[in-house]
Amino acid sequence: MIVNNSWYLAAWADEVTTTPLARRICNNPVVLYRTLDGKANALIDSCSHRGAPLSLGTVVENGIRCNYHGLVFGCSGACVEIPNQDNIPPKARVDSFPLVEKDQMLWIWIGSMEKADESLIPDYPFHNDTKNWPHYHDVLPVKCHYIMLVDNLLDATHLSYLHSASVGGSSPDVHMVAQNDLSTTDNGITLNRFMQNSPPPETYNNCVALPERIDRWQEFEFVAPSTVIQYSGGVPTGKDRKTAGAPRFDMRIFHTLTPETDTSCFYFWSVANGHDTDNPAATETITEEIQVALAEDKAMVEAQQLRITELGEERLANNAADRPRVLARNAIKKLNERQNPETG
Ligand code: FES
Ligand SMILES: [Fe+2]
Repeated sequence: MIVNNSWYLAAWADEVTTTPLARRICNNPVVLYRTLDGKANALIDSCSHRGAPLSLGTVVENGIRCNYHGLVFGCSGACVEIPNQDNIPPKARVDSFPLVEKDQMLWIWIGSMEKADESLIPDYPFHNDTKNWPHYHDVLPVKCHYIMLVDNLLDATHLSYLHSASVGGSSPDVHMVAQNDLSTTDNGITLNRFMQNSPPPETYNNCVALPERIDRWQEFEFVAPSTVIQYSGGVPTGKDRKTAGAPRFDMRIFHTLTPETDTSCFYFWSVANGHDTDNPAATETITEEIQVALAEDKAMVEAQQLRITELGEERLANNAADRPRVLARNAIKKLNERQNPETG
């Protein structure tokens, strides 16, 4: 289910420049670009004259110029210039999308303009705190329905199988017996996991020289429809995580999924290093480690999508450990009913 009347991440702020960027979002072809004053804009990627993609156009002083016959559109989507013609018919306009720049991200509203409520955009101030949380960000195209990656992110039991050599660690027992605190919120769920006195996974060891046993945490906040805010780390067993100095491992990951089509999405992610903040090499190491885990997830969910497309989902049975992702799907359904009462 793709929720209409909702915000989705359209792009990282630094992806969008005066060179137009084409991106399909929730089945809409969209062009993203900055005008010469630096403001980011989103329009439907099809000219109102003969339908050419505006992403093949050029940013000019008064807007974006279609490179077929030269019409220019302002950021509201209104046509502001037709070469060699004074009269501009009202129909010569294209749809525009509300676009908000916040925390180094560009959020697009998919739905009715008048319902766009900026207070619904998730907060992520850590992107602006580069002193305490230096980070790297990227976007990964994945050929699966976005909800399968929501499932994946809230499903801890795949960690020690799919990610046994990376973020998970090779001991399934550690994840099976973890203390899980699960609650619902107004717009999603929180899942806090604690693995006391457990061996650090490879990712942690590759980033920091940790002792053989650590007290480990993984905290997730899911904000419907598709954002997961994660804080994970570990300190030597018995130390207080609030006060312990080095050696310790601290990592924040921002994940958000933007549907491209019904069977593909964009996985926007950032990873921040909170344990060795003055060392750019430490941020690079943690990034490389996370890229390994994301490649493992991508390969699995793309293969899973092919089977689900072929055989459907009706035959699939949930495990007890699927509770967080089941609650997340309920939260998406509730959001859809709230935002789209007539159809939800
Ligand atoms: S198709 Fe864009 S100006 Fe003609
Ligand atoms: Fe995963």
